[in-house]
Amino acid sequence: MATQRLGIIMHGVTGRMGMNQHLIRSIVAIRNQGGVTLSNGDKVMPDPILIGRNAEKIEQLARAHKIERWGTDLDKALANPDDTVFFDAGTTQMRPQLLAKALRAGKHVYCEKPIATNLNEAVEIARLAQEAGEKKGLKHGAVQDKLFLPGLRKLDMLRRAGFFGRILSLRLEFGYWVFEGDLQPIQRPSWNYRAEEGGGMILDMMCHWRYVLDNLFGEVKSITCLGATHIPQRWDENGKPYQATADDAAYAIAELTGFDGEPIVAQLNMSWATRVRRDDLVTFHVDGTHGSAVAGLQECRAQSRVTTPRPVWNPDVKQTMNFFDQWQEVPDSQLYDNGFKIQWEAFIRHVVENAPYKWTLPEGAKGVQLVEAALQSWKERRWVDVPALKV
Ligand SMILES: NC(=O)c1ccc[n+]([C@@H]2O[C@H](COP(=O)([O-])OP(=O)(O)OC[C@H]3O[C@@H](n4cnc5c(N)ncnc54)[C@H](O)[C@@H]3O)[C@@H](O)[C@H]2O)c1
Repeated sequence: MATQRLGIIMHGVTGRMGMNQHLIRSIVAIRNQGGVTLSNGDKVMPDPILIGRNAEKIEQLARAHKIERWGTDLDKALANPDDTVFFDAGTTQMRPQLLAKALRAGKHVYCEKPIATNLNEAVEIARLAQEAGEKKGLKHGAVQDKLFLPGLRKLDMLRRAGFFGRILSLRLEFGYWVFEGDLQPIQRPSWNYRAEEGGGMILDMMCHWRYVLDNLFGEVKSITCLGATHIPQRWDENGKPYQATADDAAYAIAELTGFDGEPIVAQLNMSWATRVRRDDLVTFHVDGTHGSAVAGLQECRAQSRVTTPRPVWNPDVKQTMNFFDQWQEVPDSQLYDNGFKIQWEAFIRHVVENAPYKWTLPEGAKGVQLVEAALQSWKERRWVDVPALKV
């Protein structure tokens, strides 16, 4: 069994996502497990070079994870023919320009979501990537990590098993309280709350929900959305007050066409100004004619047609049923690896042995399409159709 090296330029890995999920939980973990196994049993060992603005910070990060190569010069890194993949987890605003530069330098590209802050740029970069794929065989991909959550994989299994019967509706509840920063320190970067820096709940989360809905339940056809900035003033990483210019919550309804052509109503609630009293930070509640299920990040609980209780409405007596006890847990039937790592492994196989891969930049552009439709709906206070996206 041979082992081949794959040179990967990693940009934006001093950030929250880049460092934790992509560097530590994915690339370092893959190196520690001895690489990615190809279909013929050979191995691919990622050899990253970390690129960032702050030399000291990037060196420290590289040393902490036994990575031998780092630097501050992206152009120089892109000029090295031995590094064939470019990855970006930096700011969303810079992403399309960086990806375009990397594609022009002949690199395969992989990146965080959203792939751009607006649909024009998203389509443009997706087109460029498609062309580079057709002409030069370059591969491209965008993160769709939520698909690999154990809770969602269990929901998907229930659907494929026919457990739900005809799916009627689903309700997504996402969010938790993000501290303002005055009384207690913030737990998310302050740029998330500044529209001019690529922040905002709709831009951040709608692109996730697009691929979750499309892949697990059915095609998104139209959306109505109301955004809100519930907390107008926040305090940043240095304790300095600032005006929150981005939406910190959104309340949306989408119409889907299910895999058998059935209409499905999806309610999508997301807020960084809500206190949690549910099973998890995100829950997906699916109702079908033959069964219902509620999934969190890891767990999934189901209730079938024949185990559905018969509650009776009576405001004069205290509730005797514990509704949370009436569900059956879908067991863990396998080991669930980190979703970011699974997608990295698939992308590496796609690059090295042309393995099938569907989470491409045009798929990423669909996420930005739903973002834009939701923002338009909010602005114009109306339903907005989501047509098939031509890239
Ligand atoms: N898949 C997910 O669930 C998920 C979750 C959070 C964030 N993200 C995405 O990841 C990206 C980064 O988000 P984050 O939360 O890690 O943010 P972050 O602020 O923690 O990290 C941003 C990174 O970009 C770098 N950067 C910032 N400004 C720069 C500049 N002018 N020039 C060069 N580099 C610059 C920073 O040094 C840092 O490495 C965003 O696109 C975000 O949408 C994805």
